[in-house]
Amino acid sequence: ATTDAEIAKLIERHLNLEGPLLPILHALQSAFGHVPARAIPLLAEALNITKAEVHGVMSFYHDFREVPAGRHVVRICRAEACQAVGADALADATLAELGIAWHGTTPNGAVTIEPVYCLGLCACGPAAMVDDRVVGRVDRAHMTALMKEAGA
Ligand code: FES
Repeated sequence: ATTDAEIAKLIERHLNLEGPLLPILHALQSAFGHVPARAIPLLAEALNITKAEVHGVMSFYHDFREVPAGRHVVRICRAEACQAVGADALADATLAELGIAWHGTTPNGAVTIEPVYCLGLCACGPAAMVDDRVVGRVDRAHMTALMKEAGA
């Protein structure tokens, strides 16, 4: 489990940077897989800003998670070329089937679904990414198979 001392040490290490907030958030996320809730007041105090400001920055940059991700992260492309070939419907159906919303994680902790805006596979949409693997022409059946494989 994450201790306050670990968090404090990590904050301390970046305090001399100019604009330390983002580097600290990134460091927390890479150390713990998310930015632990208890880091927020520690950060606010160390940087002399409000907790609301920390939250504001976290929600502005969509990279930060407040809870750990599932064992697998599946990203579904929502950019134009993929939308034109049904990515939205695919995403809606996938989320409905899993019973979660964007950024959500299945109750068994297997899969987190995230939106992504272009994976460079525009000619073979709808595109998705399962952890580090990019997949093209994903239809409902393919997505169902990917979900099953990921243990969702
Ligand atoms: Fe989806 Fe480019 S628009 S991969």
